[in-house]
Amino acid sequence: MSFDLQGFPADSEALAALAARGLDYRLVDTTDVAATSAWVEADHRGFHHSRPRQIDLDFDLGMLAERRVHGVYDPTMADPSVPVATVSSWPTGLSVPGGRSVDAWAVSSVTVSPTHRRRGIARALMLAELQNARAAGAALAMLTATEATIYGRYGYAPAARAATVFVDRRRAHWVGPDAPGRVQFVDAASIREIAPALARRAVARTPGEIDRWPALLDHVLGLHDPESERSRARRVVRYDDERGNPQGFAVFRVTREPNEPGVAEFDFLAAATDDAERALWRFLVEQDFVSGTRGLLRSVDEPLPWLLEDPRAVTVSNVVDHLWVRVIDPVAALSARSYSTPGRLVIEVDDTVGIAGGRFELVVDERGRAEVAAIDRADAAASATGVRGIRLGVRELGAIYLGGVHPSVLARAGRIEETSPRSVELADAMFASQRTPHLSIWF
Ligand SMILES: CC(C)(COP(=O)(O)OP(=O)(O)OC[C@H]1O[C@@H](n2cnc3c(N)ncnc32)[C@H](O)[C@@H]1OP(=O)(O)O)[C@@H](O)C(=O)NCCC(=O)NCCS
Repeated sequence: MSFDLQGFPADSEALAALAARGLDYRLVDTTDVAATSAWVEADHRGFHHSRPRQIDLDFDLGMLAERRVHGVYDPTMADPSVPVATVSSWPTGLSVPGGRSVDAWAVSSVTVSPTHRRRGIARALMLAELQNARAAGAALAMLTATEATIYGRYGYAPAARAATVFVDRRRAHWVGPDAPGRVQFVDAASIREIAPALARRAVARTPGEIDRWPALLDHVLGLHDPESERSRARRVVRYDDERGNPQGFAVFRVTREPNEPGVAEFDFLAAATDDAERALWRFLVEQDFVSGTRGLLRSVDEPLPWLLEDPRAVTVSNVVDHLWVRVIDPVAALSARSYSTPGRLVIEVDDTVGIAGGRFELVVDERGRAEVAAIDRADAAASATGVRGIRLGVRELGAIYLGGVHPSVLARAGRIEETSPRSVELADAMFASQRTPHLSIWF
C-alpha cells in the first residue's frame, strides 16, 4: 500500500470543530525537528511516561518520518509550541485468515493533555482518522487501546486477543517433537539484517498480526539505545533449520535479584515455521536457574500445553482485548480474507458515523475465496427469499472479521440478528479462522 502521507491537508471537519474551541489542529511537518520534538514531549506526557532523553527523541523522529502526525495546539498556553493533543497514523498490512494481508490504517499516540480532557478533542481526532483511513484507501482502521471504553463509540471492536503465558520451570518437561535444526545465541545487529524478512513471514502466518516497521525491530533488539540497562539485558536467539536457514528468532531477558532464580521473560518471538516456534519455545522454557518463563502478549491458543508432559505447567493470565478493528470499506475488507465454509450470506451493516453502512452480499466458493458486492450492485437474486442474512453494527463486523469472535456469541449478546433462519450458524462456519487471531506487539 503506497501512499503519500503528507499528500492531503488536515481533516476539515476536525479543523472546524477544534477551531470553534479556540484550538488549532495541524498536520505536523516531521522534517521540522523542533515541532516534532515538542510533539514527542506531549506524547510521552500524555501516556505518563518519563520525559524523553535525546536518544528517545532521535529514535522517535526517525519513526515519525514514516507517519502522518497531527497535533492540537492551544495558542493561550504558556508554551503554545507543545500540542495539547497528539495522534499519529500510517498505512500498513494486517494479516487475515487465509494468509493474505489487508490494507489497514494504524492509529497510535492518541493523547489529550489532562488540562484539556473531555472537551471532545479525542472525538475530533478519531473521526478525522477514519477520514484519513478512507483517503488512504484502507479497508479498515486499527489500534491497540490503553482502556477498553474509549474506542467503541467510533466503531472499533476487539478482534484479536493476547495473554501472558507463564511456564513453571519445575514442571516444564518437554515431550513435543524435537526440531531438526538448532537454536543459538546471535548478536542483535546480525539478526537485524534478516529480521524484516523473517518477521514478514511470521506475521503472514497469523491473522491479527501487523507488519513490523523498521524502528520497532530496532527497539525490540535494543539497537536504538544499546548501552541502556534494558538493552544490555536482552539476549537474542535464532533458530536455523536443518539446512542452516534462519527460520525464527526470539528476544528475552532474565529478570532477577542477585543469586535468586529469576524469570526468563520475552516479548518478541518471530517464527516462520512450526519447527521454529517449537524450538524457540523449548529453548525459552528449558532455562536453568530460573523459576519460570513468562511470554508477554502471547496467543490465547498456544500449542505449548500440548508440548509439555504436564499441561498445568502453563498458566494463561491477563487475557486482554488487544487488537481493535474498525471496518472502513466492507467490500475490500470482506474480500481480502478467506473463509472456512462455502456459502452465501447477506450482511447488513449499520454505521452511525456513516462510513461503512450498507448491505453486502458475501459469496464464498469451495476454496474459501470470497466475492463481495454492495447489494445495490449485486444480482437482484441476492435478495431472493431463502438467502441467509445477518444484521449487525460496524463494531460487530470488526469483532467477527478475523474469526476471533463467533457471530453466535454476539447473537447471544443481542448484538447480531439473523434475517433468515440458521444464518448465524452459517456465519459462524464461514467466519471461523483456522488459526486463532493474535497480535503480539503494541502499536
Ligand atoms: C483517552 C483520551 C485521549 C480521551 O481524550 P478526551 O479529549 O478527553 O476525549 P473526548 O472529550 O473527545 O471524549 C469523547 C468521548 O469519549 C469518552 N471518553 C474519553 N476518554 C475516556 C476514557 N478514558 N474512558 C471512558 N470514556 C472516555 C468521553 O466521555 C466522551 O464520551 P461521549 O461520546 O459519550 O460524550 C484521554 O483521556 C487521554 O489522553 N488519556 C491518556 C492516554 C491514553 O490512554 N490514550 C489512549 C491511547 S490508546
